[in-house]
Amino acid sequence: MVDAASFKGRDIISMRDFNREELDFILDKATEVQPLAEKGSDLLKGKILATLFFEPSTRTRLSFESAMLRLGGGVLGFAEPKVSSVAKGETLTDTIKVVESYADVIAMRHPSEDAAVVAAEAASIPVINGGSGPWEHPTQALLDLHTMRAAKGGIDGLTIALVGDLLYGRTVHSLAVALRNYDVKVYFVSPPELRMRKDVIDDVKGRLDYVETGDLKAILPKLDILYATRVQKERFSDPADYEKVKDAFRIDRAFLAGAKKDLVVMHPLPRVTEIATDVDDTPHAWYFRQARHGIYVRMALLGLVLGAL
Ligand code: NCD
Repeated sequence: MVDAASFKGRDIISMRDFNREELDFILDKATEVQPLAEKGSDLLKGKILATLFFEPSTRTRLSFESAMLRLGGGVLGFAEPKVSSVAKGETLTDTIKVVESYADVIAMRHPSEDAAVVAAEAASIPVINGGSGPWEHPTQALLDLHTMRAAKGGIDGLTIALVGDLLYGRTVHSLAVALRNYDVKVYFVSPPELRMRKDVIDDVKGRLDYVETGDLKAILPKLDILYATRVQKERFSDPADYEKVKDAFRIDRAFLAGAKKDLVVMHPLPRVTEIATDVDDTPHAWYFRQARHGIYVRMALLGLVLGAL
């Protein structure tokens, strides 16, 4: 049985570590703490979150910090490796071993794929992965699921397209793996160069009803959720390869004329050119509300891993 005690002290590293019961438990908790986001709370008074961000971030870091502050806890950390001792050659393991004596929980983003695992092994306090290179972004997947529940009343039965950079986009890796726990139909929509990463395909095969395609227009009328992503420029070794695919999909109001009236358009943000701003004031646009759900999900996670919920 899953209960709050099963999350106390736990690291949140990969969506591969969570089954449906656990995911639903976290999402229910996120709904439960939602009123605390408005009112404020003392639930985590005296606890400290360290945010160690070795890669750029706006939403993930700020919403972790906002979540902690709304629960009455404190925050410290850095948003830039240049200002930490990493710039002097300190290893990640050493940084973690020091930070764990200053904080009760760590949220970390790092360009290397195995950094979250390495940090969790080094730390005696819970580590939450806020993005590990192109590998995973589990808390984003949770807030994506939470947004789907808010927009559609549930996840089972939905037809969902994950669109854009499925090779380097960590949000779609975590989301695809999370979705294998639900009864959904998923289209992986990308240019051939940016097809869904092989290890994700291996992990969802036989457990997720999915189709790979490059033709968004053809499947658009079937969709309940269109989840667009940015082409991850920083992960390309050759800029010419990025130039070839950077404008693979551009979703604007005219394009959405072919969609269901209640199609929900999501995006982890930041967007570049994938979604035109003329979509923002249509009922399809859920991406800014989606970012708001990050607060609820991160409040729930912090409360759970610190044993306060
Ligand atoms: C994403 C990320 O960092 O992976 N942003 C986010 O956390 N909301 C998506 C991206 O950078 O494209």
